[in-house]
Amino acid sequence: MNHKRAIIVGATSGIGKEVARQLVAEGWHIGIAGRREALLKELQAEAPSQISIQCIDVQEDEAEARLYQLIEQVGGMDLFLQSSGIGRQNRDLNADIEIRTLETNGTGFVRMVGAAFRYFRKQGYGHIAVISSIAGTKGLGSAPAYSASKRFQNIYIDALEQLAYMQKIPVRFTDIRPGFVKTDILNDNKHYPMLMDAQTTARHIVCALKRKKRVAIIDWRYRLLVWGWRLIPRWIWKRLPVRN
Ligand SMILES: NC(=O)c1ccc[n+]([C@@H]2O[C@H](COP(=O)([O-])OP(=O)(O)OC[C@H]3O[C@@H](n4cnc5c(N)ncnc54)[C@H](OP(=O)(O)O)[C@@H]3O)[C@@H](O)[C@H]2O)c1
Repeated sequence: MNHKRAIIVGATSGIGKEVARQLVAEGWHIGIAGRREALLKELQAEAPSQISIQCIDVQEDEAEARLYQLIEQVGGMDLFLQSSGIGRQNRDLNADIEIRTLETNGTGFVRMVGAAFRYFRKQGYGHIAVISSIAGTKGLGSAPAYSASKRFQNIYIDALEQLAYMQKIPVRFTDIRPGFVKTDILNDNKHYPMLMDAQTTARHIVCALKRKKRVAIIDWRYRLLVWGWRLIPRWIWKRLPVRN
């Protein structure tokens, strides 16, 4: 990593916050964003000379302009990491939950990643990384919109990679797919097997970013699980009991 300026959207908590801390420890200058200003300020106080902040709600039209303001504060951008996302189990298929999930993980995601792509196209280089999930591997009955939105993110990055190639823009892409991580998103008193902590997950992510891995499934147990899931035919998959 020759250049050391990163923007992280969704850094007020969880995985994004831990990645932010680890990049700062490695000397990066970072811009962090999210909706909760108090939490942005709290994190900034840990390394004021290295961290700039900006309130961004990815669902709002002004999000793109606010992102560019943040980039200006940092003095440029070499790495863009999209970590913001929401997700809940929704076995009742509550329409509000489904639609809000799509708005954040779909529309908001496209808004931010698109803005980063356009910035890098102008700049002539860059690295776009997104935290999707292993949940995009197959449709999950307990979280339909969440799993579908994560598959959407996987495919969107594939498409942007091809677009960058078509337009001869040297932008690199990293699609990070963690398994279960102990963060606020899983704060629903349910049991999640093979739970990882955010610090360890962030270490894997920083390593994947440094190596500019194209797809990073975290960790090795989930790599095995995803490999197995992909082999399961649809008629068996629909019968698999997922209860927690
Ligand atoms: N935890 C897991 O098991 C797991 C597994 C695989 C993938 N992931 C993915 O990892 C990413 C980070 O999640 P996490 O586990 O770290 O959960 P988290 O602690 O709840 O973090 C979610 C982040 O997204 C931000 N966010 C949510 N809605 C936003 C909006 N409208 N505009 C801007 N920022 C918004 C939140 O900031 P504000 O609320 O301050 O806006 C927060 O910083 C998500 O995309 C999630 O799907 C998580």
